[in-house]
Amino acid sequence: MNELDSLVESATQLFAQSATPADLENAKAQFLGKAGRVTELMKGMAQLSVDEKKSRGAAINVAKQAIEAALTARRQALADAELRVQLKAEALDVSLPGRQRGQGGLHPVSLTLERIEGIFGSMGFDVAQGPEIETDWFNFTALNTPEDHPARSMHDTFYVEGGTPEAPNLLRTHTSPMQIRHAVQHVKKHRAALDAGQPMPEIRVIAPGRTYRVDSDATHSPMFHQCEGLWVGENVSFKDLKVIFTAFCRTFFESDDLVLRFRPSFFPFTEPSAEIDIQFQTGPLAGRWLEVSGSGQVHPDVVRNMGLDPEKYIGFAFGMGLDRMTMLRYGVNDLRLFFDGDIRFLSQFQ
Ligand code: DAH
Repeated sequence: MNELDSLVESATQLFAQSATPADLENAKAQFLGKAGRVTELMKGMAQLSVDEKKSRGAAINVAKQAIEAALTARRQALADAELRVQLKAEALDVSLPGRQRGQGGLHPVSLTLERIEGIFGSMGFDVAQGPEIETDWFNFTALNTPEDHPARSMHDTFYVEGGTPEAPNLLRTHTSPMQIRHAVQHVKKHRAALDAGQPMPEIRVIAPGRTYRVDSDATHSPMFHQCEGLWVGENVSFKDLKVIFTAFCRTFFESDDLVLRFRPSFFPFTEPSAEIDIQFQTGPLAGRWLEVSGSGQVHPDVVRNMGLDPEKYIGFAFGMGLDRMTMLRYGVNDLRLFFDGDIRFLSQFQ
């Protein structure tokens, strides 16, 4: 091997031993730099004859090009290696299962609400919404609830700013004020017909929504949900209430042999009044009487506060707890679960 071949070989070896781009540039300088060995060889030609210069120069150039080629190859190899390390560090494991986006869904109480609206809607009931901040008049007085009624005490009712001492504002303690609000609107709408002695279309409405009381345990929450029902006309009887509510419960609970019991009770705004109890014949709750709703024939004073003549108009009302209906339907035993927002609980209803 001649001197130039071994120069190329030692350059190639040194390049191969250079582990980093910086090492490689140092190695390059030793051969191709200003004081490098190839440059030295060029300088060494000064004494040679023209012919010798020609052949020696050509040979040195070949060697130089070989060294440059080795350098370029090594540079590329180092760059490739660096890229490989980088890719490995940033590697994505495409076989990992993707992170799923939760689908979301309706809250169980909302599902109950939708069901109730659907069932009563199919029986010709409208759905009405009303304010959660109520006046004393709509929540109590118009519903024939006397001044000294215990429901008015500070212990049950959340009072809020904005009213007067005589007519305080409060968070509605039940959805029953919607009986008055809706009926008054209805009567207003049909005033002309009424004044002309023509028949008024019946009032048939449910009014679901949030209600509030100072109360908190496994079956009571300071905020809870109720659904009011009202049917008023010239010829509406307790029998209609029984038919309607039985059909509703059997559809709602999907249980044809479910039986109802009307247990005498008291509410200021109905006379007579009854608690409605249901009994399943099968399933985990079979045989027990379960209270689901208050009800009764609308009190004449309340009919009057609706703007109607109690001698002519009669009807019934009911008010049930949506949270309780949901608990019974799904077998939930603690009301607070509905309001904790625990996704493990809520996702079971989807
Ligand atoms: N408002 C009553 C309550 O919260 C429930 C109720 C009872 C509503 C009888 C009615 C009714 O409409 O007729 O306890």
